[in-house]
Amino acid sequence: MKTHTLLMPLDMHLHLRDGIMLENVAPLTAYSFSGAIVMPNLVPPVTTLEDVTAYKERIMAAVPNDFFEPYMTLFYKNYDKKFLASIVDDVTAIKLYPAGITTNSEGGVSSFDIQEMRETLEAMSTLGIPLCVHGETDGFVMDREAEFMTIYEALATNFPELKIIMEHITTKAAVDMLDKFDNLYATITVHHLLLILDDVVGGMMMPHNFCKPIAKRPEDLDALLSVALEAHPKVMFGSDSAPHPREKKESCGCAAGVFTAPIALQLLCEIFEQYDKLDNLQDFVSDNAQRIYGICPEFKEVTLEKRPFVVPESYSGVVPMYAGNTINWAIETVD
Ligand code: NCD
Ligand code: ZN
Repeated sequence: MKTHTLLMPLDMHLHLRDGIMLENVAPLTAYSFSGAIVMPNLVPPVTTLEDVTAYKERIMAAVPNDFFEPYMTLFYKNYDKKFLASIVDDVTAIKLYPAGITTNSEGGVSSFDIQEMRETLEAMSTLGIPLCVHGETDGFVMDREAEFMTIYEALATNFPELKIIMEHITTKAAVDMLDKFDNLYATITVHHLLLILDDVVGGMMMPHNFCKPIAKRPEDLDALLSVALEAHPKVMFGSDSAPHPREKKESCGCAAGVFTAPIALQLLCEIFEQYDKLDNLQDFVSDNAQRIYGICPEFKEVTLEKRPFVVPESYSGVVPMYAGNTINWAIETVD
């Protein structure tokens, strides 16, 4: 049997939600990942030190052991220097959402005026707090990410010491930015290494493949694969696993988000093996992130085996990507 071992897998973009949903989904990630960057788009969003510490406690209470580190984030506002200095030890990054662009982002940024953001972004640069960005405009849905590139450019050039992470990139346009600006990095999901728009709306509409940003063209998929498979040093795995209850997905007005947490490592093994690049998966799924963020995750050794695995129809009422389908790798052991 072919096996592959990964050390300290990290998910650098994860939605854990709250309440019962948190209790149901957090153990799935904590099982196979050493840590995850936890998104702050709760209702209301995570904006204070009290919010961060209380949410972290709820996450730790929801996972069955201590071998998982939730790397906490704040929801971006134009915070002042004093506040940022007071939270620097408690957050790993700050996540910026354009207002209304995706699930629970209504309180996000409505102006990208550099002067308005200067105090916050300069303080983040000095304190070494990375800025994670949901990079979409409110333009035509297929062009939203590409249109955002001018905003990335303005942020990257005005704040050269700020680490800016282009979250869940889906386009060749975003891939091309990585080698243009020293301080731009990216996360890539597993679903965007598998899906194009046709898999969402090309045949029957597939709500469980619908997310923001939406999957794009074949040439975009190729560009994403090229940097992921080579484990480009500025690229990290971030699942953007975004659970919604089945009734919110299979409904008129389908919520955006693809749920991949329990099958992400298996699918990554399948993709990297298919292209004969399994040796690069460790960098993509952990080592690059450790270096970029300067984090030392909890030890975890995950061994996957190449054998058929039928993806469950649901995990506590949340339908995963590829529900009911057979994938070709499974998790064997976690130590
Ligand atoms: C995310 C969610 O459901 O919170 N949805 C999504 O489609 N990715 C939000 C986000 O990351 O955009
Ligand atoms: Zn997300």
